[in-house]
Amino acid sequence: MNHSDAGKLRSVVVGLGSYLPKRIVSNADLEKSLDTSDAWIVQRTGIKQRHVAAEDEPTSRLGLYAAQAALKDAELEASDLDLVIVATSTPDYTFPAVATQIQAGLGMTHGAAFDLQAVCSGFVFALATADKFLTSGSHRRALVIGAETFSRLLDWTDRTTCVLFGDGAAAMILEARPADGTSRDRGVLTSHLRSDGRHREKLYVDGGPSTTRTTGHLRMAGKEVFRHAVGMVTDVVTAAFEATGTSAADLDWFVPHQANRRIIDASAEKLGIASSKVVVTVDLHGNTSAASIPLALAVARDDGRIKQGDLVMIEAMGGGFTWASALIRW
Ligand code: UT7
Repeated sequence: MNHSDAGKLRSVVVGLGSYLPKRIVSNADLEKSLDTSDAWIVQRTGIKQRHVAAEDEPTSRLGLYAAQAALKDAELEASDLDLVIVATSTPDYTFPAVATQIQAGLGMTHGAAFDLQAVCSGFVFALATADKFLTSGSHRRALVIGAETFSRLLDWTDRTTCVLFGDGAAAMILEARPADGTSRDRGVLTSHLRSDGRHREKLYVDGGPSTTRTTGHLRMAGKEVFRHAVGMVTDVVTAAFEATGTSAADLDWFVPHQANRRIIDASAEKLGIASSKVVVTVDLHGNTSAASIPLALAVARDDGRIKQGDLVMIEAMGGGFTWASALIRW
């Protein structure tokens, strides 16, 4: 059957897997080399520790481990996939794409694999992109990965940025399945992507192949980013509620990008989402950029919070600026 003949399709989550590097760097570890304190970091951000990749763990390696875990979870083989999208801002090389390296690592020689770069919003952008492929009927099963090694982009002498980020990867497998077209369907119900390039200077990397010919370091005007974050999150989450006729009361779980506990709490409060529904992992992982949402989903799914049929809102905001939401019936 040609998949496009099949009426309404939804992209249903059928697998999830994650990988965190073994090495954990605590706030106390950072106190040894920086003019910072555990108290400052916890009070301003909620972060207590972050994972840092080993020398022999490039982004593609983290992503491959997460992909293998997701395939196992879904009880599928790489040959069952036909699309791989990796959201990352820390690729192994300028090219080829991390996605093709993971594709090769999985032993997959068919289908399409490419990277997508929307910084901290990358996973939501990648999920939305995969959803368009799957619901058009052109592809059947997508592997969507958020994988990052931000530790390699950081200026480890800049206390205003280096305490905030961590490394990790998580992967989701989505499958096109026939659906009714209502908000009771399982799968991705809606997604809302936004960007505004005028904000470049507030969060950027000061190098690149076509300018400095170096990788560069992450630079951020944290207060400025903070000032925009809650409004942007509210904008896209409200759009998702409106598009699906749902409200905060209908949500089972709110799984935001994990950058700062204060942004997460303020966003949930503004949106009227009960704190008991908010999944927080920023304390354990720090900000892992495009990996943060799928890592948080994996934690909440693995500890039994997120169950089949639950209504899950994901959202992110980051460099660009970019900001995005997606509403998923698990
Ligand atoms: O994922 C992409 C999106 N990114 C974000 O969402 C990040 C958004 N921004 C933030 O999370 C916060 O703005 C930060 C956590 C980055 C900073 O928190 P803040 O409350 O905005 O602090 P601040 O930048 O206003 O700094 C307050 C003070 C400053 O000292 P003075 O000027 O008041 O003397 C900083 O120099 O804290 C100082 N400071 C530190 N002190 C100890 C900055 N970093 C540190 C540090 N340890 N690591």
